[in-house]
Amino acid sequence: MRRSRIFLYFSLMAAPLLATEGAAVQIAPQLRADNIDEVVNAMTLEEKARLVVGGGNKSFGDGTTMVGNQKKIVSGAAGVTVAIPRLGIPATVLTDGPAGVRIGPTREGSSQTYYATGFPIGTCLACTWNTDLVENVGKAIGNETLEYGCDVVLGPGMNIHRNPLCGRNFEYYSEDPFVTGAIATAYVKGVQSQGVGVSSKHFAVNSQETDRTKVDERVSPRTLREIYLRGFEKMVRESKPWTLMSSYNLINGQFAMGSKDLLTDILRKDWGFDGMVMTDWDWRVYLPINEELTAGTDLLMPGLPFQMDSIIAMVKSGKLSMKDLDVNVHRMLQFIVRTPHFKNYNYSEKPDLKAHAQITRQSSTEGMVLLKNANETLPFQNVKKVALFGVNSYDFSSGGLGSGSVNVPYVVDMVDGLKNVGISTTQTLTDIYKSYVKYARFKLKVDKNPAMWFLDNGQPKLDEIEITERCIQHEMAEADAAVITIGRQAGEAMDRSIENDFNLSPLEQRLIHNVSGICHSAGKRVIVIINSGSVIEIASWREFVDAILVAWQPGEEGGNSVADVLTGKANPSGKLTMTWPIAAVDHYSTRNFPQEYDIYTYKNMETYIYGNIKGIDYSNHEEDIYVGYRYFDTFKRQVAYPFGFGLSYTNFVYSKSEVTLNKKTSEIEVSVVVTNIGKTAGKEVAQVYVKAPEGKLEKPTKELKAFAKTKLLQPGESETLRMRVAQRDLASFDESNSQWLVEAGAYQILIGSNSADIKATLSVNVSSYTEKVSDVLHLKEPLNLLRK
Ligand code: BGC
Repeated sequence: MRRSRIFLYFSLMAAPLLATEGAAVQIAPQLRADNIDEVVNAMTLEEKARLVVGGGNKSFGDGTTMVGNQKKIVSGAAGVTVAIPRLGIPATVLTDGPAGVRIGPTREGSSQTYYATGFPIGTCLACTWNTDLVENVGKAIGNETLEYGCDVVLGPGMNIHRNPLCGRNFEYYSEDPFVTGAIATAYVKGVQSQGVGVSSKHFAVNSQETDRTKVDERVSPRTLREIYLRGFEKMVRESKPWTLMSSYNLINGQFAMGSKDLLTDILRKDWGFDGMVMTDWDWRVYLPINEELTAGTDLLMPGLPFQMDSIIAMVKSGKLSMKDLDVNVHRMLQFIVRTPHFKNYNYSEKPDLKAHAQITRQSSTEGMVLLKNANETLPFQNVKKVALFGVNSYDFSSGGLGSGSVNVPYVVDMVDGLKNVGISTTQTLTDIYKSYVKYARFKLKVDKNPAMWFLDNGQPKLDEIEITERCIQHEMAEADAAVITIGRQAGEAMDRSIENDFNLSPLEQRLIHNVSGICHSAGKRVIVIINSGSVIEIASWREFVDAILVAWQPGEEGGNSVADVLTGKANPSGKLTMTWPIAAVDHYSTRNFPQEYDIYTYKNMETYIYGNIKGIDYSNHEEDIYVGYRYFDTFKRQVAYPFGFGLSYTNFVYSKSEVTLNKKTSEIEVSVVVTNIGKTAGKEVAQVYVKAPEGKLEKPTKELKAFAKTKLLQPGESETLRMRVAQRDLASFDESNSQWLVEAGAYQILIGSNSADIKATLSVNVSSYTEKVSDVLHLKEPLNLLRK
């Protein structure tokens, strides 16, 4: 609040100053929404160059040497754009996301704290399949962005879960582009309704973290359009994001940030995007700046001093035309006039964290997925005391690592979560684990390698400890049930390994085995909570336990949210937005996914972030369009849990399915009645898949094209769900003509409760449709593509 006033005073004082560069001396216009051209004309070359280069940030030491850089406006924010007071152009502030506002929690010389709410991670939000709920979470995140003095939140994360080993899957939504686009659209609408912007990222194909700054993602144009870009396209068309962030990686030999094919031809020409594009935080700068700016990048982040000098030199030498630079400057100003800083918003630095904690508590329960519930183990009946196993029960993880982590005020662990609903935990086990967590946290702090700064961003996972059979027996004598939390942590700049990460460690397997054996012989139940941002192996141990709940990383209220589900206060209605395979290698993409990455062996920052791990700096997308269920379904491979799966404490029946073609709009209108036939109130997600007729283009067996979620249905209650599929959404990408193509014929409309449980199959005749688009981003060399 104070800062805005200072800026206003400063800019008023500075306004009468005259431009000194150029022959003519003129009074400087002050930026308004309707005089952008005038301001561009009045800018000196130096000012233009300054505007398209971010103001640096302090992580790597040196933001302050940037010409025109100002002192930190919001401490701990990811970056700033630079003010030009002479023209009334304020600095703007960009903060990470996406699971909440990522700023420094404390400030020197101030006793006030600036903690932000840790909301559920992207994967958990997507698994709600509830766009209203996601929009509401977006509103709360937008409100914190605004009230903490920021202009843009760097999210949503929209990359496709190509493979479960990607370290940043937790920030992303799904293996499916339709769900990704729908959830992202809701998030963006929610955030932007608060008068702040988003930066949807990472555009595009940032499907792995290993070598992320130099891996060439080699992918067919068809797969690019249908799988990796389609979610972005939907979000751009439907929610008009203020900004997009390009990815670090290359796509078919072109760096995303320097790809005119991607940033101009596809994004702006084909999709009509009219916002601003920024780079990801590019410390390395592999590309000549003129290539980036003319490709469609408008803002170089975080901004390095030499970049500004380089732009000036390039314009002077003719390598970059002033006309081209003006395009970027224009877009920057269009962005700036929308921001709270431009509007001098009087931010409070006091968002309503209590209200937002309630939003996170409720929204995360709706994203939790019940995978198993044998003999109605859940919700708890007559459970007053539990034996709580697994380190994460006591060190519950609210979110992932890296820029996607949030400085949260607290994380409710399972002990407190259960206590808050009147369930106690056995004393000895609680003491053992709590003492261990205290020790291990302290040790981690002391042993920390300063180069591993990503590990400091968020809550790294602590190692598990051995619990003896004698101890289990002792605890189970007084407990009514056992709860085991299996935790995983992953994050930016690191991918996951198969051993001890995707797969359980031998110690974890032993724990599940021993606890289950002892519990079952005493007639007691075992429940496993998965506290992870991504998928783990489950098929080898699920038979031993009675119930399994995927809690994801549900935000700061974690333990409370889990307790709400365990006790039945909330009936789980989340469904998987990604397949859970039997083994990691079952994904076809695993053969092209780096698997020898061990961050702990990397000695310094340089090799850590930029190291070329196996000497391979490309990834061939040989699976092509067969990502996720498109692969498992089409090639009839068994999975542990299919895409779209999730149980409830009640049961639903589907009836009266109908499909009609709306001749006027060419939309397929689908309706189905969902009835709750159980004894508990609950919500159900219905999914519409489409199976295309045989035609010129090979297609997956079926693809998701619509979904809808019921309201909370009371026992016996019904709701008619209505869904629409636009004709254009049936299109596949026809590379040979560079067009979207719907082939005429009878399309099957499959209405299911998950991708493997189809309740009704209908048919509709569809006419053909074509739409020519830019013929760009070709493969440099052919790939050995998987075909039916
Ligand atoms: C990440 C982005 C993030 C940016 C700013 C980059 O390293 O890839 O997702 O927004 O840093 O923190």
